[in-house]
Amino acid sequence: MTEQPMTEQPMTDRLSFPRNFVWGSATAAYQIEGAAHTDGRLPSIWDVFCQVPGKVRNGDTGEVACDHYHRMTEDLDLMAALGLPSYRFSVSWPRVIPGGSGPVNHAGLDFYQRLVDGLLERGITPLLTLYHWDLPQALQVRGGWTNRDTVDRFVEYAVAVAAALGDRVPGFTTLNEPFCSAFLGYASGVHAPGETDRHAALTAAHHLNLAHGRAVSALRSVTAAELSITLNLAHLYPASDSEADLAAAEHVDRIANRIFLDPILRGSYPQELLTETKHLSDWAFLADGDLAEIAAPIDSLGVNFYNPTTIAAATEQLRGQLAGRWQNDPEGTGGPSQWPGTDLAYAIPMPGPHTGMGWPIVPEALTELLLRVHRDYPGVAMVVTENGAAFDDVVTADGQVHDADRVDYVHRHLAAVHAAIQAGADVRGYYLWSLLDNFEWAWGYSKRFGIVYVDYDSLARIPKASARWYADAIRQNSIPALGS
Ligand code: FCB
Repeated sequence: MTEQPMTEQPMTDRLSFPRNFVWGSATAAYQIEGAAHTDGRLPSIWDVFCQVPGKVRNGDTGEVACDHYHRMTEDLDLMAALGLPSYRFSVSWPRVIPGGSGPVNHAGLDFYQRLVDGLLERGITPLLTLYHWDLPQALQVRGGWTNRDTVDRFVEYAVAVAAALGDRVPGFTTLNEPFCSAFLGYASGVHAPGETDRHAALTAAHHLNLAHGRAVSALRSVTAAELSITLNLAHLYPASDSEADLAAAEHVDRIANRIFLDPILRGSYPQELLTETKHLSDWAFLADGDLAEIAAPIDSLGVNFYNPTTIAAATEQLRGQLAGRWQNDPEGTGGPSQWPGTDLAYAIPMPGPHTGMGWPIVPEALTELLLRVHRDYPGVAMVVTENGAAFDDVVTADGQVHDADRVDYVHRHLAAVHAAIQAGADVRGYYLWSLLDNFEWAWGYSKRFGIVYVDYDSLARIPKASARWYADAIRQNSIPALGS
């Protein structure tokens, strides 16, 4: 008898990532910094929104948050202890140009100088997001993102930050999730500034696109850094094979994804988008030359992904079930919710398992999404700039947080990224959301996304089991194969 050849046997039970794959973790200014009135910072739209009764769970605000502004050194040491190769953070516009326009506040900018220096000293590569939703309130009183003037104010701010940091920061992202700024901020109203006007939302989306494109062109003459934008792309499953549900899913694809992807990567808006939103807006905000400016070449596309969504056509029956429900509220007991910015489509609850946000856990959707972008926008390099999960973490008697559910979520999603790379997608990095538990927007402090637990009374940081698991993956540039 001859022995079976061993060649079918896998060499390793781990999934290895490409040699230059960037591992990181992400945060955003308003969610962690606190120090809302320190060193000349003035209010952002989120400071104002938090004061509106009923808008943020428990009346929470970002006044103190994780107090990262004062605990930056401790947090840098925490990152170094985890062996984090890269850190994605955002700069607070109302710290740097508190009035939205006018002079730069050097005391505010200095904080980011110290942060960047501290990262570099520890060998951690910064990835800087210019706008993670904290518009200076001074610009909101002039119309915020519905005012075309905000575009040039953003460009001035971007150039001021790059002039100070562009020699040491190798990657700048213009905007985080403009979908949320435009459609949650101006259509469903669940985010600041809390407006409910679909024409305003479309106007804001266009101005955000233009702000991105103009900033990219302006930044090229100030810094050699790689430039990108981060989109939260919706991965959509039609609720059925019916023509109506298929059409609804395509409609949402246009108002959630292609409204950003197409002008940025193809230099045009989908023609159907203009027709199907005609009753809301005449698109008079789209001026000659805008599309060419928006399509300024970028070096990579940031993709944020948490969960896919099932989409159904709006029917009378679904409309009835919807009555009185708050968008995306997991306590909305599982009924459909209207997709922000349209009355033609509903998001339908998906079967479990779910995270602590009530979001379905479907890792293969991330593989599909990355491959879809790779197919439809050939040549685009991608970075997963956010992925992670909230769970109801508890500190147990041993003083630890045993967040096995988060480890499993991250593990499966990293395997999904690996699968997309194997299938040909150019995915260059992964940033886990989030380094710290933090202010989760309309959910306040009730949702914990961190791999480091934050005790909001003492502000002590406790690395969770997921932090140790992630540190190990980083060290090995690989993860255990699923099921091994
Ligand atoms: C994303 C945001 C980020 C965080 C996560 C959970 O939409 O960019 O700030 O809130 O969701």
